[in-house]
Amino acid sequence: MAKEDNKIEPKDITIEKLEDKHDLGDFKSYEKELVNFLVEDALNNQKQKLSVTFLWFYEKNLVGYLTLLNDKINLEGNLKEFFREKDIHYKSLPALKIGRLCVNDDFLRKGIGRLMVLFAIQQANEISENKSGCRFITLDAKRNEKRELDSIHFYKKLGFKMLKERIKGTTPMYLDLKLP
Ligand SMILES: CC(C)(COP(=O)(O)OP(=O)(O)OC[C@H]1O[C@@H](n2cnc3c(N)ncnc32)[C@H](O)[C@@H]1OP(=O)(O)O)[C@@H](O)C(=O)NCCC(=O)NCCS
Repeated sequence: MAKEDNKIEPKDITIEKLEDKHDLGDFKSYEKELVNFLVEDALNNQKQKLSVTFLWFYEKNLVGYLTLLNDKINLEGNLKEFFREKDIHYKSLPALKIGRLCVNDDFLRKGIGRLMVLFAIQQANEISENKSGCRFITLDAKRNEKRELDSIHFYKKLGFKMLKERIKGTTPMYLDLKLP
């Protein structure tokens, strides 16, 4: 059930790893490129071990998806100084990348995007605690000139910082998993 404030609760969400059996036909987003990726490329990329895609269901509706892959951040400028002060002198540090993240147009502003980012953070923390080093979450935030919302604003609200200024319509951002 959706709460009175219109946010969907985590307990009402089911998360499934993308498989051949899934019907993706009804998924819609104003970001057409993200629909195309889900329908045409996500499963193939997963089979090629390039990324893993998670589908989010609410009352049997496909309400969003999240694609994750490995990444690294090259340490430059302030970030390089920050780690030098901690006696960390590597040229780059390991990260988990949110390759794609998209909420179905019919379910926007119900907290699903935020829950998907929290899920990515949880995955990164589990990886770094038990499997392999992972210090950051990275992503390339999209700017959509026609929409009021800049996804940069959405990610900043969740604690992400800009890594660089905009490159070809996207802004690289990161979250340091060691910071509170
Ligand atoms: C960006 C996106 C993921 C947000 O998902 P969402 O489920 O609607 O967002 P949430 O409900 O979790 O919102 C979290 C906060 O983000 C901000 N936000 C989200 N949508 C917003 C909008 N349209 N206008 C202003 N602020 C917005 C708000 O601060 C919001 O908190 P609030 O609702 O309590 O005020 C969604 O709009 C989307 O999928 N867009 C198309 C694809 C895209 O841009 N993906 C990211 C690029 S990598």
